[in-house]
Amino acid sequence: MGTRQKSGPRGGLTGLVGRLTGSRSGSFVALDIGSSAVKLLEVRGAGSGPEIVRAGIAPVPEGALQNNTVQDVVAVSDVIRRLVEGLGVHARQAITAVPGPAVIIKKARLTVQPEDDLEALLMIEAANFIPENLDNVSLDYQVLRAEDTEVEVLLVAVRKDILSGYTMAITDAGLEPTIVDVDYFALENMYELNYEASPDDVVGLINVGARYSSINIVKGGTSSTTGDVQAGGGEITDALVKGVGLSYDDAERALAGEEIGGGRDEKIRQIVDDGAADLADAINQSLRFLWRTASDEPLRAIYVTGGGARIPSLVEKLAAKLEVPVEIANPFNHVQLGRNLDVAALEAMAPSLAVAVGLGTRRPGDA
Ligand SMILES: Nc1ncnc2c1ncn2[C@@H]1O[C@H](COP(=O)(O)OP(=O)(O)OP(=O)(O)O)[C@@H](O)[C@H]1O
Ligand SMILES: [Mg+2]
Repeated sequence: MGTRQKSGPRGGLTGLVGRLTGSRSGSFVALDIGSSAVKLLEVRGAGSGPEIVRAGIAPVPEGALQNNTVQDVVAVSDVIRRLVEGLGVHARQAITAVPGPAVIIKKARLTVQPEDDLEALLMIEAANFIPENLDNVSLDYQVLRAEDTEVEVLLVAVRKDILSGYTMAITDAGLEPTIVDVDYFALENMYELNYEASPDDVVGLINVGARYSSINIVKGGTSSTTGDVQAGGGEITDALVKGVGLSYDDAERALAGEEIGGGRDEKIRQIVDDGAADLADAINQSLRFLWRTASDEPLRAIYVTGGGARIPSLVEKLAAKLEVPVEIANPFNHVQLGRNLDVAALEAMAPSLAVAVGLGTRRPGDA
């Protein structure tokens, strides 16, 4: 959880893979590696106006990613490599994200004298809030505000073993990880790119994943509070496996609306509906809590993203509980879609691609 302000595209963990050597122009691969699916975009152009030239989603084998950690590097890198080859991706430099729940985000105020070394002070500050040996974590920071000697920074830390699972899977697939962001920050960048936020605009962004869902409260497009719910579409997949006896793959397909047959479709519909109601409940409770601590201003709207936004009736159930206009975000509002793309297919996948679009606004050296 963390609160921060930003200017321009926010960099979360630019420093996590070393200060960047990559080029700022050309095309990049934006990779959102989730426990249910890898989402890939090949993106060209500047942060303010990216163009998607290739896009694809591929399922991740059950268990290859667990507890926000890559458990099976070979399996995940195979998924990435097949996507890269199948789509004919040319770019080699990859921009990816670690899951928000895997990082520690902390806002700190420091008094810095001109002769002080800010990074050395940050290491001391970091040691106070990170319950780990600092040798085991990668740290990055962003200066939010500096007035005279008062500096406000956002510190972001992730365990090196978690980070290396993601970067190894990318490297093994023949790509070069140049930026590692945090999915929370990518979503804010996606929102900022696609929606014009007035200074007093307060909105909620909800990304419904497979194993967790994130909630960002964004004020005037400039600051936010972030939290997560340890629930997503995965609970419904599990309930379909248990309740109907489907394989994990068939359960994922059933959740995506494919008919399974054998007289099981009515039972599937019921399980999906009950699961969507439970998920909407869990998200509603967390969002209300977070919103109360973040702000007393009313939310203008809530934008839902993630593969879970496509779960039948979830958005309607959220709207009924939250009493705020709820809509599925369009991550392509201000994005050019390449001429070779199947626009209808891409629009159907749009909610799943929101984090990847946010990653596609990043360029080496922009943070
Ligand atoms: N077309 C669809 N209809 C219904 N549900 C879908 C559809 N596509 C994806 N989902 C569900 O959305 C959920 C999350 O998808 P998403 O790709 O955002 O998760 P993820 O990023 O892989 O997971 P996590 O971030 O939790 O590790 C999955 O449970 C998946 O079954
Ligand atoms: Mg995800």
